Amino acid sequence: MANKIVLLGGRGMLGSEVYALFAEGNITALDLPQFDITDKTQLAEAMGDCDVVINCAAFTDVEKAESQSALAHKVNAEAVGNLAQIANRKNIYVIHISTDFVFDGKKAGSYAETDPVNPINVYGQSKLDGEILLSQNHNLYSIIRVQWTYGKNGNNFITKLISLSKQRNSLKVVNDQFGSPTSTIEAAKVIKEFVSKKSQGIFHYAAAGRASRYEIAKFVFEKLKMKTELIPCQTGEFKTAAQRPLNSSFCCDKIQTLLAEPIAGWQKPLETFLETL
Ligand SMILES: NC(=O)c1ccc[n+]([C@@H]2O[C@H](COP(=O)([O-])OP(=O)(O)OC[C@H]3O[C@@H](n4cnc5c(N)ncnc54)[C@H](OP(=O)(O)O)[C@@H]3O)[C@@H](O)[C@H]2O)c1
Repeated sequence: MANKIVLLGGRGMLGSEVYALFAEGNITALDLPQFDITDKTQLAEAMGDCDVVINCAAFTDVEKAESQSALAHKVNAEAVGNLAQIANRKNIYVIHISTDFVFDGKKAGSYAETDPVNPINVYGQSKLDGEILLSQNHNLYSIIRVQWTYGKNGNNFITKLISLSKQRNSLKVVNDQFGSPTSTIEAAKVIKEFVSKKSQGIFHYAAAGRASRYEIAKFVFEKLKMKTELIPCQTGEFKTAAQRPLNSSFCCDKIQTLLAEPIAGWQKPLETFLETL
């Protein structure tokens, strides 16, 4: 029998791609302002008689989270705890999306699921608290941590780069933050596989490979033939409210064993995305 799916955060950057993949199926997408995940009654009603909940809803503004820590915690942690309790009562399979920001970024190599967590900002702490509350209140779930995602329906590093480059002759980009730009279309496909296999546990998912933000910017500018001068710099040169992990690289060996296709390198999906702009 087909799954009855409820998708939370269905208008967000990742959620909208998940919705697009399931558009033919039995899926209900919910998001602000009509649906608020922090409203327990609304949440219970939304989860009604579904078999699967995909939670892409989150307070994702890393800078604002520093000054709005109560709201970040309510959305990213408390609400996930409530969701877990409802899911547990109804035996609903939950796919919850989390982040590389649960780590401090000080590791030399790529992060495995077993590496110790240590968030260095409010957003990361709130997402980690959400993971913990889910695991304490439910058994039938997967947590998929993603990193450096980009897509057409949201603000992200790639779209910010392009819009800034249109306003300036030169752009400083950090060359000491490492990760892998990851397409939300590719991440949505992974989520779809999880829905059919009901895989359980914590998983890391990112495009294959590793690059600094500066290297990624160079790739984007070359592909788009942009003339803006790129200047490499250090994270410390930018004053931000939230600290950023310097290393966001994921080891994706665990999730790869479950997936039908090998995870592609970051370049090809990014090139395809750039062609759509
Ligand atoms: N973007 C990244 O680089 C990145 C990296 C690692 C992990 N993630 C994770 O990926 C997941 C998806 O994020 P995204 O990139 O798609 O971000 P996004 O575009 O900000 O999507 C999040 C969605 O959740 C909604 N939302 C916020 N508060 C809500 C509430 N109280 N009730 C219901 N919905 C609410 C947002 O609505 P509004 O837009 O109206 O606020 C938005 O539509 C999140 O779990 C995030 O932590 C993202």
